[in-house]
Parts: sequence; structure tokens; C-alpha cells
Amino acid sequence: MQTQRLRIAIQKKGRLSKECQDLLKRCGVKFNMMGERLVVHAENMPIDLLLVRDDDIPGLIMDGVVDLGVIGENELEEVGLERAARNEACEYIKLRRLDFGGCRLSIAIDKDADYSGPQDLNGKRIATTYPQLVKRYMDDIGVKFTTCMLNGSVEVAPRAGLADAICDLVSTGATLEANGLKEAEVILRSKAVLIQSTEAISDDKQALIERLLTRMQGVIQAKE
Ligand code: PRP
Ligand code: ZN
Ligand code: MG
Repeated sequence: MQTQRLRIAIQKKGRLSKECQDLLKRCGVKFNMMGERLVVHAENMPIDLLLVRDDDIPGLIMDGVVDLGVIGENELEEVGLERAARNEACEYIKLRRLDFGGCRLSIAIDKDADYSGPQDLNGKRIATTYPQLVKRYMDDIGVKFTTCMLNGSVEVAPRAGLADAICDLVSTGATLEANGLKEAEVILRSKAVLIQSTEAISDDKQALIERLLTRMQGVIQAKE
């Protein structure tokens, strides 16, 4: 369903939402986040913001439901691998890497466990929200493992006896520390990225995207 207005999917609530809204505002997009609305109309440009769960953003782009999205590379790559494995559309255009949302996806183990390298993970059960990325990494290095899929509270899995290790996002390291875990391997370094659907769009919309990108370039450069 094509609309005249450019649709941008952003995270409603979470690690990317504030900086993402700030970036759009600095690019001159005026909007008012109020209440629990899913769609927010920009006041001064033909742009609609869709406020959704970050997990849904890659699929919305790959299915061509929205034109642009801001998403962490970790989530984008995980969903891309998952959809590719199911033979679903997994194409997108990466417009630019942004200057926020930095984190790493790491395998962590009990802080007191001996660890000399990835071979020590052989045969371990790893709790994670990112099974595809874990599998890609472990297959690459040729180490066997099993997974335990958890959408939340991944960090408590070892203590709860559900897994031997975890693979989760780390930014400050506070979560690992609080749960008696230590980082063993970094498997992906991630930042927020701006992506576009590969769906054909009107010249007007494409011109608006170019204008946003130019402004974004200025905003990001000014901060450096
Ligand atoms: C991630 C991750 C850890 C935390 C790590 O969760 O799952 O819980 O951040 O950050 P730290 O190293 O600074 O402690 P996120 O905030 O994305 O929320 P979620 O777990 O609810 O998805
Ligand atoms: Zn998420
Ligand atoms: Mg968490």
C-alpha cells in the first residue's frame, strides 16, 4: 500500500528511541510524540513516523511496508538470516551507519570459569535472542553447540541452570557484572543504521530521502 507520505519506522521505546527522535528533529522534521500513538504525522514535511518494536523494523522494510527504518545492525542481521533461511524477502538498502546505538553482541560465561578460547565453548548450551548470529559465528569457527532461545532475561539463564553460556548485547557491561558473567568472545559490533526498502517509490519520495540524508550528514558531522 503506497501512500504519498514517506513512512519511517522507528523504535517506540528502548535503546535507540531517544537518539533516533533527536536525529530526526535536528534534521528539521517537526513532530510531537504524544500518548500511545502508532503513527505520528510530521507537521512540516510529508513524513509519517511509525512507532514500533525494534524487532519488527527489519521485516517492515524487507516486506516494503515502510520506506525507511532506523535499526541496530544486530537486529537487522539476525532477522535477515532468519528470513533468508525461510526463503522470505530479506533485501534492503543500507543508506548510512549512524553515530549512536553502539553495542557488541558477545558470548559470556561464568566469571570464575577458565577460558582459553572458543574451543572451550564446544558442546555448550548458549542462551540467546540471536540464534542465527550465534550459529553463523560458531559454524565459522567450527565449534559445536546447542541453543536456548530466550526473548528476555537472557543474563539469568546460566544461574537458573537453563544454559552454560549466553550470547547477548553488551554496552556498559553492567548487566554481565551484575549477573556474575564475563565476556568471552565478541561476535558482532553493532550500531544503528538507516535502511530503505528496495520497493520502487515516487520521485518525490526519493527526493525527500536525499534531502534527509544530506541534512543527516550535516548533523552528524557537526557532532564529530
Ligand atoms: C540489552 C541486553 C542487556 C543490556 C546490556 O538489553 O539484553 O540486558 O542491554 O547493557 P549493559 O552492558 O549496559 O548492561 P536491552 O536494553 O536492549 O533491553 P532488552 O533486554 O529488554 O531487549
Ligand atoms: Zn528488541
Ligand atoms: Mg536486556
